Amino acid sequence: MLTGKTALITGGAKGIGRAIALKMADENANVAIVYRGSEQSALDTQKEILAKGVHCAIYKCDVADFTATKALVTQVVKDFGSFQILVNNAGIKADKLLIAMKEEDFDTVIATNLKGAFNMTKHAGTLFLKQRQGRIINISSVSGLMGNIGQCNYAAAKAGLIGFTKSTAKEMALRQVTCNAIAPGFIDTDMTKKLQPEIKEEIIKLIPLKRLGQAEDIANLCVYLSSELAGYITGEVIKVDGGLYI
Ligand code: NAI
Repeated sequence: MLTGKTALITGGAKGIGRAIALKMADENANVAIVYRGSEQSALDTQKEILAKGVHCAIYKCDVADFTATKALVTQVVKDFGSFQILVNNAGIKADKLLIAMKEEDFDTVIATNLKGAFNMTKHAGTLFLKQRQGRIINISSVSGLMGNIGQCNYAAAKAGLIGFTKSTAKEMALRQVTCNAIAPGFIDTDMTKKLQPEIKEEIIKLIPLKRLGQAEDIANLCVYLSSELAGYITGEVIKVDGGLYI
């Protein structure tokens, strides 16, 4: 489905990003993986992707760093010729009640989850507009739609990402570049593994489909939004949450 395309995935070494990277490779796309700390996970994911017979390279970069992301995009273009798919997946959380939250907890979450997407989209978007081709997918969260206790920083960043997605979609549509957001619910990754078992049980009770999502549930939609089948979809926010926020 994605033969001849290259996808750049931030935070692609593990969790949801890793599942997206593998699924893109299954569809025959070449993959550029951006990671920050976990070099071994990045190398492991790269090995698995190369075994599928597509090109894959890994890049260490902090998406919150404007200058570094510019250099990153230049390097990826040099290595792959070009790329057509950008998945802004890198994200962190620093959960605390608002009254206990430190300034730094707010700033770092906004810097990675929101400004990181701006940095990447600005540099990649310039290329996409020039080549009149591109798919941008931002990984938001249902927290950005419904809010969540202990996540005023994270929910603000993820809600901001939705406004960012819609504005980018409007600005880039004339050049056939689409921009959409995916809002996952609770997905079984390192980010949710830290939850106490009893809290996890309570969460599952609230989910109509009665299970946490798998990273592949997000990856499937990412591949679809990157494909020709989704050429007329832009500015959308699609929930993949088992019905949590109906
Ligand atoms: P994870 O913690 O397993 O993976 C996040 C990845 O982002 C890691 O590889 C990490 O190295 C990378 N990363 C973090 N900060 C970075 C930075 N400044 N520069 C470059 N890379 C950076 O998390 P998970 O669960 O796979 O989350 C992926 C995305 O999905 C995040 O944006 C998260 O907010 C979002 N999400 C996750 C949900 C869940 O239940 N797991 C629910 C809703 C949204």
